[in-house]
Amino acid sequence: MSVHKEVKRITTNTLQEMRNAGEKIAMLTAYDFSMASIVDDAGMDIILVGDSASNVMAGHETTLPITLDQMIYHASSVVRGVKRALVIVDLPFGTYQGNSKEALSSAIRIMKESGAHGVKIEGGVEIAESVSRILTAGIPVMGHLGLTPQSIYKFGTYTVRAKHEAEAQKLKEDALKLQELGCFGIVLEKIPAKLAAEVTEILSIPTIGIGAGQACSGQVLVIHDMLGINKGFKPRFLRQYADLYDIMNGAIKNYVSDVKAKSFPNEKEQY
Ligand code: KIV
Repeated sequence: MSVHKEVKRITTNTLQEMRNAGEKIAMLTAYDFSMASIVDDAGMDIILVGDSASNVMAGHETTLPITLDQMIYHASSVVRGVKRALVIVDLPFGTYQGNSKEALSSAIRIMKESGAHGVKIEGGVEIAESVSRILTAGIPVMGHLGLTPQSIYKFGTYTVRAKHEAEAQKLKEDALKLQELGCFGIVLEKIPAKLAAEVTEILSIPTIGIGAGQACSGQVLVIHDMLGINKGFKPRFLRQYADLYDIMNGAIKNYVSDVKAKSFPNEKEQY
């Protein structure tokens, strides 16, 4: 019997039980009420209100421009659509790096104004004080290591991280530190599968991979990518489960031509 089928509401404890039982954790992003309802109804364990909203919802090139107010707007819309999944929200760029007090007040705003269940924060030992302060306030924190998109201008490229020993070693130390501080899980983005397996092995909390191989305790994808709404974005790690761009585009073209041809609305579609 799987752990998740028995639970009415997923909590961080449920995730730990799933990890301990060897049951994989499913996580997906959502940014609005309608999409969140569909995702939740499909049995998702964690819904991430990612700062990828900056890319897929607002059309920015990076995740840096999205603001705390915008994240709270997306998160509160998601929360209203969710009955069962754990809703986690990204702390956006510039709302936690200054100092731990700023990090705590950003996290509190997210929890209070959106009704979400926890926050995710990018980085390792450098942000230990902030992570610790947020946790002390009783807010669940998820870490995020490897390719951390808020640091894209430092990395210079979206290629695989931690391929070399020094960066891999630092990532392991960061993961152990986040666990020691009390994070309930860690996202590992775009790192070699072997390293993700080693990190998963040395930790007792769940790891959630994106482009990090199958040994992680769970997987996360951006919903627009896996549904094929983001036409042309096809990195190697992505499995595309639908081709919604073409389906939606085709439906909309049909509507345009029906309106032009005066075949919509017909007699049955009017009062
Ligand atoms: O913002 C986001 O969608 C994320 C996932 C890619 C993990 O952080």
